[in-house]
Amino acid sequence: MRPLRAPSKYSVTDPRALPWAILFCAFSALTMETNNQRLLHTFAALADLGQEIANTADFEEMLRSSFHLLLGSVAIRRGAVAQYDRQRDTLRIVTARGLEHAPDADCPIDREHARALAGAGAFTIAEATSEATRFMSEHPQLFASAEIQLLLPLVVHERLIGIALLGEKASGEEFTEEDLETLTALARHIAVGINSHHLLAEVKRKAEENQRLYEGLRKIYKETVHAFAAAIDIKDRYTQGHSVRVGKYSEVIAREMGWSENEVEGITIAGYLHDIGKLIVDLSVINSPERFSAKDSKEMSRHPSAGYEILSPISHPYADIPLMARYHHERIDGNGYPDGLKGDEIPPGAKIVTLADSFDAMTTDRPYRKKLPLEDVLEDFRVNTGTQFDPKVVCAFCRAFLKEIEGKRERRLMNLLNRNYDNVEAVTPILNQLLAEFDGGVMTATGH
Ligand SMILES: [Fe+2]
Ligand SMILES: [Fe+2]
Repeated sequence: MRPLRAPSKYSVTDPRALPWAILFCAFSALTMETNNQRLLHTFAALADLGQEIANTADFEEMLRSSFHLLLGSVAIRRGAVAQYDRQRDTLRIVTARGLEHAPDADCPIDREHARALAGAGAFTIAEATSEATRFMSEHPQLFASAEIQLLLPLVVHERLIGIALLGEKASGEEFTEEDLETLTALARHIAVGINSHHLLAEVKRKAEENQRLYEGLRKIYKETVHAFAAAIDIKDRYTQGHSVRVGKYSEVIAREMGWSENEVEGITIAGYLHDIGKLIVDLSVINSPERFSAKDSKEMSRHPSAGYEILSPISHPYADIPLMARYHHERIDGNGYPDGLKGDEIPPGAKIVTLADSFDAMTTDRPYRKKLPLEDVLEDFRVNTGTQFDPKVVCAFCRAFLKEIEGKRERRLMNLLNRNYDNVEAVTPILNQLLAEFDGGVMTATGH
């Protein structure tokens, strides 16, 4: 075809050149317009593709939509995307359109071919390199029936992610340089989408594995705590099950106080372990059938500090557990032990364990006395609230108890008490009186 340009022997000021110049300008404008439209179309496709990749949670749906956009960008009727599995050295068709012979099994591909394809760029079947030709001849299932005309490696950071296998253009025309540039730009986006999906899947797999390991460690920790609680309770033959019950009472109180599940789990474990220091106390003292002598009391009073010493070197999921063991015999009036802390100097968890501990001590038989009637236990609470016990903890206990009696909460306290008491519900008026007398709002783990 004759080139459409003004003959060089004419200057633009020459009137004879004018028709040529007009024709040249019109053609340039038309070409520019076509190029601009093409550019806009490519940008629009890229924008759509970006949105597809960013917004679609379903990976296969993302791939399908992205690939359809790619095919539509240069009007190709058929094709497929094969994903490269680096671990297994295989290619697998993950989305296809209009292909009758797309294989649904993995096609093995050796590393050498994967590397060659990663560096190949887009190429038509006709101009395939020897490497690519060998690859194609080894995989007739991928290139069956001459359905594929163009191969587009999907590459990120020079690593093969997959390949796009494309049929001919709907118009039957050859692929132009512009077509290849457009397809290459879109394919890069698809490659990044697939790669991001791989990375996310890997992060998710690792997070799940870590979660499994963490759950395993938590389970081991809890089982160890239970074993310790059992060991403590076996040593003290008069208070069988005391540690576990204190843990359960503490759990009920903390939950009523609005503590988080994590904090509730922590206080439950603190309850299980609060008397762990008894492991170092002389067995004859612990199991003495008499009330403690002054000497025995001194020996026994070592157990909170000893518990702290035992628990401190351990990394607990709940940091305050050693402190709860140390301070469960403190009183808010400062007359407790081992440190004589007062009021809010005592950690809130220790105040809860204190009440749970006293409640269990009074509601179970001891060698020197029988369990107290529930009315007497609650009277003890009334008398000692504000001196031994924190009013907020006492009120939380009463509210939880009332909710169980009224059927508004699972029966945890009552199930433990029902083994030793009849007609637990009869204390409802006393619980209401205690609340009327002491209700001072809700204490939280962090806002005490
Ligand atoms: Fe204790
Ligand atoms: Fe105790």
